[in-house]
Amino acid sequence: MKILTYPNRKLRKKIKKVDKIDRALKKIVRRMFDLMYKEGGVGLAASQAGYQFRLAVINLTKNPKDELVLINPVITDRNGQVINDEGCLSVPGVTAPVKRSKQITCQALDLNGREIVLRDDELLARVLQHEIDHLNGVLFIDRLEPAERQKIEQELKELENQK
Ligand code: CO
Repeated sequence: MKILTYPNRKLRKKIKKVDKIDRALKKIVRRMFDLMYKEGGVGLAASQAGYQFRLAVINLTKNPKDELVLINPVITDRNGQVINDEGCLSVPGVTAPVKRSKQITCQALDLNGREIVLRDDELLARVLQHEIDHLNGVLFIDRLEPAERQKIEQELKELENQK
């Protein structure tokens, strides 16, 4: 398993729901966490690891007890707006300020198939929005103000030329 990087077209697909939580899926989740820790990220969407289903893993602390698995996540409520710097393991070396909802409520299933509801107005809210974007084929660089996008154009070109 490795992380797909911009401009890989697989990152641009809007992907399907998970319909079955089985051992194979649990194994993939474990490997996604391990890969995310190795790369120093706080969130990883399945599409970044080459899997076309709606699943993301998140851990803001690296403490195993804080591992979050989100299956078929949906944002059910959002409030306010805030701008903050963001990066992405799939766009290595690039950070830029992104405007996001300040508070969100997110509904998903966990690895046991139980419904979970997460509500946050800090880092978790931002990470959830970022990861759910991935499941819709959207990268944070798509959400930049034109002037901010301009500033990273050169870095993006370099990533495009590395192919
Ligand atoms: Co990302």
